[in-house]
Amino acid sequence: MYPFQITSFEQYKETYQESINHPEKFWAAVAENFQWRKKWDNVLNWNFKEPKVEWFSGAKLNITENCIDRHLATMGDKPAIIWEPNNPDERTRTVTYNRLHKRVCQFAQVLKNNGVKKGDRVCIYMGMIPELAYAILGCARIGAIHSVIFGGFSAQSIADRLFDAQAEYIVTCDGAYRGGKDIPLKSVIDDALIGNRTVKKVIVYTRTRTPVSMLKGRDLWWEDEMEYAETQIEKEGVVSFPAEEMDAEDPLFILYTSGSTGKPKGVVHTCAGYMVWTTYTFVNVFQYKPGDLFFCTADIGWITGHSYIVYGPLSAGGTSVMFEGIPTYPDAGRFWDIIDKYKVNILYTAPTAIRSLMGFGLEPLKGKDLSSLKILGTVGEPINEEAWHWYDENIGKKKCPVVDTWWQTETGGILISNLAGITPSKPSWATLPMPGVQLVIVDENGKEVREKDDTGFLKGNLCIKAPWPAIIRTTYGDHDRCRKNYFETYPNLYFTGDGALKDDIGNYRITGRVDDVLNVSGHRIGTAEVENAINMHAGVVESAVVGYPHDLKGQGIYAFVIDNNRHGDEDLTRKDILQTVTRIIGPIAKPDKIQFVKGLPKTRSGKIMRRILRKIAEGDLNNLGDITTLLDPGVVEEIKKGKL
Ligand code: WTA
Repeated sequence: MYPFQITSFEQYKETYQESINHPEKFWAAVAENFQWRKKWDNVLNWNFKEPKVEWFSGAKLNITENCIDRHLATMGDKPAIIWEPNNPDERTRTVTYNRLHKRVCQFAQVLKNNGVKKGDRVCIYMGMIPELAYAILGCARIGAIHSVIFGGFSAQSIADRLFDAQAEYIVTCDGAYRGGKDIPLKSVIDDALIGNRTVKKVIVYTRTRTPVSMLKGRDLWWEDEMEYAETQIEKEGVVSFPAEEMDAEDPLFILYTSGSTGKPKGVVHTCAGYMVWTTYTFVNVFQYKPGDLFFCTADIGWITGHSYIVYGPLSAGGTSVMFEGIPTYPDAGRFWDIIDKYKVNILYTAPTAIRSLMGFGLEPLKGKDLSSLKILGTVGEPINEEAWHWYDENIGKKKCPVVDTWWQTETGGILISNLAGITPSKPSWATLPMPGVQLVIVDENGKEVREKDDTGFLKGNLCIKAPWPAIIRTTYGDHDRCRKNYFETYPNLYFTGDGALKDDIGNYRITGRVDDVLNVSGHRIGTAEVENAINMHAGVVESAVVGYPHDLKGQGIYAFVIDNNRHGDEDLTRKDILQTVTRIIGPIAKPDKIQFVKGLPKTRSGKIMRRILRKIAEGDLNNLGDITTLLDPGVVEEIKKGKL
C-alpha cells in the first residue's frame, strides 16, 4: 500500500501527507517490513504531558533477529561489516552475516555465563573494532541495555555514567588505536572503577597489547570467554543462541548526551520504534539499494554510529564500512583511500571533517578513484555553503546528491533531510521533514511563527508536534528530567533546542542551538558541564563558558575565568585548567580560549549575562546591547580590553 522506499518527489509528498493524516495506518504498514515474534495491539499511544509515548505496544521482537537472523537464508555470505584498521598496513576484516551471527551468539552466551540478564546495564568502552558491534548486538540479543561511552571520555565521566546507569558490567579493550596514539582504555576503566560499588565484571578484548592490570574475580579476557562460549553453544558445527523475546517498548540502550545542565542525561531508546525508524530513514534518505557499500565515518560512541553504522544498515541487510582510525592518519587522503579501496557507494560524514580535509587542498585526492560514490551525506552540525560546495564538487564530482541530515541523540534517527536524488537539495539547508515528522517554528512564547522576518523566512525555535517512532522515551532513572528538558518549555510540543528558518517551499535550515549547548566538531558539550569542570580547579573562583564561531570546529569553547591569582603565572594556570577539564570530562571539552577576568557581567539578581559574553567571544564588541541593568557595568570594559 505504501512503498517502503520512496522513489519520486511526488511519492514523497503523497507519503508525507498520508503519514500525517493516517499515522497509525501508515506506520503499521511500514512495520510490516520487519520480523516480529508477535505483532502489536496498538500502533501508537501518546501524550507529551507526562510524556508517555508507546509505539507498537504489545508487539514482541528481538532487534538482532531483524539485523542478523532474517538475512541469513539469502545473504549469509554477504559482508555485514567491512572493517578498516587504523594502520593501513594491517589486515582488514570482512564480517559476513553468518560470521556476525556466530559472534553475536557467542558473545550473548558470554554475557549469560557472567550473570547478565534482561534489563541489566552493560557499559561498553571500546575502540572502533568489529568486537564493539558484537558487544552491542550481544547485549541486544539477551535483552541487556547497552550504554556505549565514547573512547575520548575521561575516567571521571565514565564513573558518573556508570553510577547513573547503575551498570553492573563493562566491556572494554586493553587499548585503542586512534591515529598516531594508543589510548589505554582498560587503565581508564580501572580509574573509573575506584570507589565504584555496582560493577561486577569487566570483559577485556585484546587490541593493542598494552600492559593492563587484571583484577582477579572481576576482570576477564574476551578471548577466553568467547572460546568457552563457543564450545557450549555449538551443535553439529552450528553456533546459535536464542534471542530474548522483547516487548516493543523494552529499553534497547542508553546513550548519554549533554544538555544545558551540568550533568549529561541518559537518553533511552526502545526496541521496536527505534528499529523501524533507523531502518526506514536509512533506506529512504540514502536511497539504499541492495549491494550498496555504506561508509559512515562517525564513532559508535555517538548516536550516529549506533543508528547508521550498526542498527539501520544491518537491519536493511546492507554492508557497513567501519573505520577504526581518523581522517588525517597517516595522511589527509585516508577517507579517499578507503573509498577507492572498497568502492564505497555512500559516504556519510560530518561538516567538521569536510572542513578539516578542505584545509589540505586537493593534493590528497590525487590518484584516488572516487567514481564508485553515488550519494554523500552530512550530519552533526550546520554545514556552511563553502564546505557543501567543496564536498559536492570535489568528492561527489557534482554527480552525487548531497543529503544534509538533521537529527539528535534524542530523535534516534534522521528527522529532516532531502532524500538522495528524490527530493531537491538546497546547500546548507536540511530541507524537508521525513514522513511522520510534524515540525513547527515557534517564538519565545511558544506561539507558531507565521510572519516572515526581513530575510524572507520564518524564523524561530524548532519544535515537533507529535511523536515519531524513535523519539526519546525517558532519561534514565529520572523521567521528570526528560519532561523538563524537552516537553515543558512549550506545552504539548517536543522542543529540539535548535533554532531554524523555513522558506516558502517548506524547507528547513537549522541555525544551531538556542540553549546552552555547544557543538564542537560535531560533539555536543554543555557550557555548564565545562564550567563545572573548570571550577573544580583549586585556583578558580568562578567561570563562564560560551561558544564562538570556529573555522574548523564549527564552534570553539571560550572560557572567562576569575582565578585567585595564587600562581601569578597565567600560562601555567591556563595549562592547569586544561588538565582539569581533560581529567573531569575528556580532551574534547578543552576550552580553545581562556581569558582571565576580574569579574563577570551579572544582573543584580546574580545571573551571568551570557548574551554579553557571547558577543564579546564572537568579536562583536560594539553591539553588546543594554548593559545598564548590570550590577557592575565596569567589568564589561575590562573584559572587552582583555579579549583573546
Ligand atoms: C546539531 C547528532 C544542523 C543540532 C546526530 C542538533 C545539526 C545537535 C545537524 C544534535 C544538521 C545535527 N544541521 N545542525 N544536519 N545535525 N545538528 O545529539 O544542533 O550529537 O540539536 O546528534 O546537532 O547533536 P547529537
